[in-house]
Amino acid sequence: MSALTLGVIGCGHWGPNHIRVFSQLRDCEVAAISDLSERRLAEVGEMFPQVRRYRDHRELLADPALTAVVIVTPTKSHYAIVREALEAGKHVLCEKPLCTAAEEGRELVELARARGLTLMVGHIFLFNAGLLKVKELVEAGEVGAIRSLTAVRTNLGPVRSDVNAAWDLASHDIAIFNWLLDAEPLEVQAMGAAFIQPGVEDVVNISLKYPGGVLASIQCSWLDPKKVRQVTLVGSRRMITWDDLALSNPVAVFEKSVETKLEVSDYGEFLRLSMLDGDVRLPKVPTGEPLKAQDAEFLRAIREQRAPRSDGRFAVGVVHALQRIEQCLQPGRA
Ligand SMILES: NC(=O)c1ccc[n+]([C@@H]2O[C@H](COP(=O)([O-])OP(=O)(O)OC[C@H]3O[C@@H](n4cnc5c(N)ncnc54)[C@H](O)[C@@H]3O)[C@@H](O)[C@H]2O)c1
Repeated sequence: MSALTLGVIGCGHWGPNHIRVFSQLRDCEVAAISDLSERRLAEVGEMFPQVRRYRDHRELLADPALTAVVIVTPTKSHYAIVREALEAGKHVLCEKPLCTAAEEGRELVELARARGLTLMVGHIFLFNAGLLKVKELVEAGEVGAIRSLTAVRTNLGPVRSDVNAAWDLASHDIAIFNWLLDAEPLEVQAMGAAFIQPGVEDVVNISLKYPGGVLASIQCSWLDPKKVRQVTLVGSRRMITWDDLALSNPVAVFEKSVETKLEVSDYGEFLRLSMLDGDVRLPKVPTGEPLKAQDAEFLRAIREQRAPRSDGRFAVGVVHALQRIEQCLQPGRA
């Protein structure tokens, strides 16, 4: 099997992680990198001296030795660069979110399909071992019917200026919810506030309604004293919490539920509530780097000529929800 040769476009905060991970994976080689910043190109080039360096990503895309590219530039630039990469015949792994308009995302999905190329988006939490355990429990029927999902994703920064906290942070939670429920939200409501930069919401609270009446909420913020990455799932049979920062036991399964029964007695009908408040189980969760699992999936999908998990179609669903959130925050802006 010949090694896949990759280029990485964007070497800021996150790009070097992809370069490191792909360099560790078998049967692939990072042969080229690109960044608009000469300084960044030089710094990252020193860390990976074997790679060719390009200031202009178009020159990298013209490099015939490259089979695939990884796009790790700011969100607002994704659409144009992904389009150019697909037109240049490269398989694409683009960082999340895919773009800022669902219509543009659909165009990219169609372009990839027409050219027979893989288009994957870095929805990294679909490769998180803790959340894979949650998905496994849901699919095994352990939680019963899902009733609500709550996500909290806060920290002090890092603050972006090209997109708000919803595009940056809630993109992760919407991906998690859409994937766990295998659905997209029917209704979206959101409120936000921009305290740090005018017009760029740093605190956003989101409510979503999914098919089957599942109620979901997301609280995301760049302006918070505590780093929190948590999801709570309430099912009709059990409840589950996931805490990404609880390294040894990120998932807890609670034997908690409420049964409601309508009873008839001599005095009339009344609702009887029976609370089940039982044990808490901490299932074993394997360790492993989600980025490595995600990037390995990209390589496998190319080789096996199949859609990857978090393919372009899935990513468009996330963008669509984010666009509707944007419309709630600033009607007329999105
Ligand atoms: N999956 C995750 O957990 C995760 C984590 C961090 C960032 N991200 C995503 O990665 C992307 C980049 O984030 P970041 O934190 O690295 O941003 P960053 O601003 O630190 O880096 C972006 C880099 O892209 C470069 N760039 C911009 N336009 C370019 C172009 N046309 N050609 C080449 N280089 C160009 C910039 O010079 C900069 O060095 C974003 O989409 C973000 O959402 C994902």
